[in-house]
Amino acid sequence: MIDELQKEIEGARQSFLHELAHVQSPEKLAALKERYLGRKKGAIGQFLARLKGCAPAEKPAAGQAINELKAFIEEALAAVSCGDGAVREWLDHSLPASELPVGRFHLIADIQRRIEDIFLQLGYEIAHGPEAELEDYNFTKLNIPEHHPARDEQDTFFLEGHDELLLRTHTSPMQVRYMLAHKPPLKIISPGKAFRKDDPDATHSPCFHQVEGLLVDRAIHFSHLKGTLEAFCRSFYGPDVVLRFRPGYFPFTEPSAEVDISCFLCSPQQGSSPAGNCRVCKGSGWLEILGSGMVHPQVLRNCGIDPEVYSGFAFGMGIERVAMVKYGVPDLRLLYENDLRLLGQFG
Ligand code: DAH
Repeated sequence: MIDELQKEIEGARQSFLHELAHVQSPEKLAALKERYLGRKKGAIGQFLARLKGCAPAEKPAAGQAINELKAFIEEALAAVSCGDGAVREWLDHSLPASELPVGRFHLIADIQRRIEDIFLQLGYEIAHGPEAELEDYNFTKLNIPEHHPARDEQDTFFLEGHDELLLRTHTSPMQVRYMLAHKPPLKIISPGKAFRKDDPDATHSPCFHQVEGLLVDRAIHFSHLKGTLEAFCRSFYGPDVVLRFRPGYFPFTEPSAEVDISCFLCSPQQGSSPAGNCRVCKGSGWLEILGSGMVHPQVLRNCGIDPEVYSGFAFGMGIERVAMVKYGVPDLRLLYENDLRLLGQFG
């Protein structure tokens, strides 16, 4: 009985405060006073009437709780009433403003912008290409042969009713667009969405994001590619990161290299040995982050650039992959579920 009564008393205190906060006229204030302190029907009077039903042992505590509420209400009413019955302004200017939820960039957009910032500092321009792309630019001009498996309908979304159009399978066709439209020297990155007919799992999504890079000028060597990617990775992953270039194969670059960085969790410095059970690099000490290479002479030729005069390098990295590597996101599907508990952790 007493527990219940005490809960109700506390409830009445809360409702009183709530109502008081909304009182805007002397009449409303008087009515509020009547509702709580009024002789017969007032809340306090009703609580007191219920005292009779309490067990003798409970009476003192219950009575005290009611009296405390009464004193509290009287004090609060006195604080807001002016002598002439007007209501004092019910506004405390010293209170901090209530916090408004502030939006932030999605992790994918945030990473993309950080990558863009670094390359902007290195003098690159940002170029955007279309997501519905010509098959010619997505494959043929990039030196991807006619019967390459990537061209298969199993792997690529072709657009119905548009024989020559598909959803680009990578951001590399922007290299072609840019070279066709501009004369060297060229220095661009091109971020955006790419699409493949992959079933979603922890590391695949039919729509994902990449950042492409392309630099074409006279006398560009592999060392320029290496220096650029090193500068980027130091800036993005931290000054101690070590890069490893492994031979790779891409039809549009020759030679091609896959680039790994030292695992930030278990081997922050060159020479230290990786932890066998590292959950980030699975014990190898390295994390694969991008594909790169020297632009294939045939690709330059396809785009109207003389490979005897010009050379260049290109690279492409997956933004979801970066999110997984840099922020330890274990499953890329998490990035698309719009769960603020995940997305709110970054920024
Ligand atoms: N387009 C490649 C892919 O999606 C990535 C890539 C590799 C881009 C090498 C490049 C490059 O520009 O040089 O897997």
